Order: sequence, then C-alpha cells, then structure tokens
Amino acid sequence: MSDVDGPADPPSGPADALGALGGESESYTLTVNGRSASVPAGWLGESLLWVLRERLGLPGSKNACEEGECGSCSVFLDGLLVCACCVLAADAVDAGIVTVEGLAGEDELSDVQHSFVDSGAVQCGFCTPGLVIAVHDLLDRNPDPTELEVREAISGNLCRCTGYGRILEAVRVVRRERAGA
Ligand code: FES
Ligand code: FES
Repeated sequence: MSDVDGPADPPSGPADALGALGGESESYTLTVNGRSASVPAGWLGESLLWVLRERLGLPGSKNACEEGECGSCSVFLDGLLVCACCVLAADAVDAGIVTVEGLAGEDELSDVQHSFVDSGAVQCGFCTPGLVIAVHDLLDRNPDPTELEVREAISGNLCRCTGYGRILEAVRVVRRERAGA
C-alpha cells in the first residue's frame, strides 16, 4: 500500500482557497434588497460580488473584470454606487445593499429597465445591470442631466455591443417620462 496520498481536490472558490491556507470562515448576515440574507460559513474577505452571486444566488450583478474597471458589478451600498467586486463582504455587513434584482417589485421592471428594453439598449446584456444601476443613481440625484452629465455618469460602465447610442436614448426616455413630458 502506498503511503503517498493522491492530489487534493482543488479549492472551488476564494473561501475554500483561504481554507486551504488556514483562514477561517464564519456565518454572517447581509441586508440585500430589504431582506436579511444569511451567509453560512463564508470568509469575510470575499468580495461582495462573489457573495451576492455565488453564495446568495443573485446573479444580476455581473462579473467581468473583478478590478473596478468595467462597472458590470455595480450595486448600491447604503445608497452609494459601488463596484461590488471592490467591496469586501466584511464592509457590507451593516449596510443596506440594493442589487439590480431589487430596483423594482418582484417580477417587475423599474422604469429604467423598461426603457433599456424598449429602446433596444440591451444586446448581450452583460453590461446592462451595471448601467441600469448607474442610470438610477444619476437620475435620482439629478432628474434633468445634460447629455454630457449622462455620458460622465455612465463612463465607468463598459459596453462592447451597443455603441451607447441606444443607451443614451433609453436615459432620455426615462428623463422625459419622469418629468411628465
Ligand atoms: S467586475 Fe467589478 S468593475 Fe468590473
Ligand atoms: S449589451 Fe453587450 S456589453 Fe453591453
């Protein structure tokens, strides 16, 4: 009989990888879209994006660059627009988190989501959740932005498909609708 063990199973995620290095995991609770969400045996050093997608089953926030460059993972953290890939789960424990799944009622779309669909601003859709969050953030702060302000507000959200024209049109439509025009 051999006394040499076979290769260990590779870690399946950051928490497992940390466990392999001797890190600790613990249970904690986040507040996501107005509800308490338990994270059993998670490592607080995981990114909020990882926790939302892989531990809480909320895949709306997309994972593209994981380094704060593309905006696809945007969420609200206590009302502030953040890239969830750059936020530690530990820093979100006492905060209110809103993801793209929580912008409207269950099985409903927000006005911005409707406008993106109706304006043809969704192609592959990978950038869309982050853009929708960014547009909500802009229009909630500034109901009547100039074209330049819209472009600045979404400048951190990269879209490879649409050329941005239809995205800008979707924002114009919501702005007009909210103004009652
Ligand atoms: S995945 Fe977070 S900014 Fe790109
Ligand atoms: S719709 Fe495909 S990346 Fe924006």
